[in-house]
Amino acid sequence: MVEVLVTGGAGFIGSNFVRYALQTHPDWHLTTLDKLTYAGRRENLHDVMDDPRHTFVLGDICNADIAGPLVERANIVVHFAAETHVDRAIMAAGDFIRTDVEGTFVLLEAARRAPGLRRFVQISTDEVYGSVPEGASTEHDELKPRNPYSASKAGADRLAYSYFATYDVPVIVTRASNNYGPYQFPEKVLPLFVTNLVDNIPVPLYGDGGNVRDWLHVLDHCRAVDRLIDDARNGEVYNIGGGNEVRNLDLTHRVLDLMEKPASLIKPVPDRPGHDRRYALDTTKLRALGWAPQVPFLQGLAETVAWYQANEWWWRPIKERDPAFKAYYEAQYDRRP
Ligand code: NAD
Ligand code: DAU
Repeated sequence: MVEVLVTGGAGFIGSNFVRYALQTHPDWHLTTLDKLTYAGRRENLHDVMDDPRHTFVLGDICNADIAGPLVERANIVVHFAAETHVDRAIMAAGDFIRTDVEGTFVLLEAARRAPGLRRFVQISTDEVYGSVPEGASTEHDELKPRNPYSASKAGADRLAYSYFATYDVPVIVTRASNNYGPYQFPEKVLPLFVTNLVDNIPVPLYGDGGNVRDWLHVLDHCRAVDRLIDDARNGEVYNIGGGNEVRNLDLTHRVLDLMEKPASLIKPVPDRPGHDRRYALDTTKLRALGWAPQVPFLQGLAETVAWYQANEWWWRPIKERDPAFKAYYEAQYDRRP
């Protein structure tokens, strides 16, 4: 069996990747290492927790005693674990520096000692390029992160590369655009807006709603990572973008239309500090390896909206019974000027 370590496998993208990999690679044994922060949930893996080809380990990537042996026996590491929400990074950045930078360092140190390791996939983000007024970022563009989350990811991105250049660790770096799909924590714009709208709660749109994000279905992201595990060149960076650039206001209107809700439920609120205006990725390098996104955006969006509508068991406990989520929501939205 191929031993695959997935850090952050109980989060949004990680859990989709674990499920996808179990279905597509019968010769893989997957180990999820996850601290189960507020964003990581056993519910995300409910249908694969008992799969004999999947082992769940509760633990912090910053803890070398736990993470080290798991990395050392892996053939492939896919490193998703991170603090990921920009608004939380703006409130308090400490956990982002610890997990995203120091945690990556702990994994990379262990990777130096891993005899059978053939891939270490550092999951980075398009946010490391900073705001892109026009054109599309290529892998050679300068990194200009502008918020504590993207700065911590840029640090981890280059730290991972340094372990390839210095120690020959088989690192590749992926920079993906905004993912959407099932099991995304309902603090991110799409699941937040959909779940609010189910209950006719207004949706807080930052600034003028003109910020642009490039939407990538989470399964297209999983397929890209899978392709890169096989075909990438060590030490290289690969952009993964859906090619669906949408303004937040237009995205909101599409969701309202799909849910048959009135535009009066849009609530303009003050902008996010340092809000990057636009991200856009040039994906020529990845496409040359034969990957292309398969999920048409409008179809994927409709299916995603329908998933949250049909799976209240998954999100209602967070929004209604988790005091930490309530405290976050109040601090982020109700107490904003
Ligand atoms: P998420 O917040 O849904 O999940 C993160 C997971 O990491 C959670 O399960 C959490 O419990 C776990 N985790 C956090 N700190 C940990 C620690 N110290 N030790 C072990 N586990 C820990 O995030 P996501 O949206 O699934 O993002 C996954 C990765 O993809 C991140 O590295 C993120 O930067 C990157 N990324 C995300 C997007 C996106 O649109 N969501 C786009 C590009 C890149
Ligand atoms: O681009 C990749 C990044 O995408 C990932 O690296 C991050 O981990 C992920 O969280 C995501 O970051 P964003 O900041 O783009 O995602 P978010 O869902 O927070 O916001 C998307 C857009 O919607 C952004 O322009 C801000 C806006 N927004 C967001 C929220 C939460 C609102 O207008 N209102 C909101 O309440």
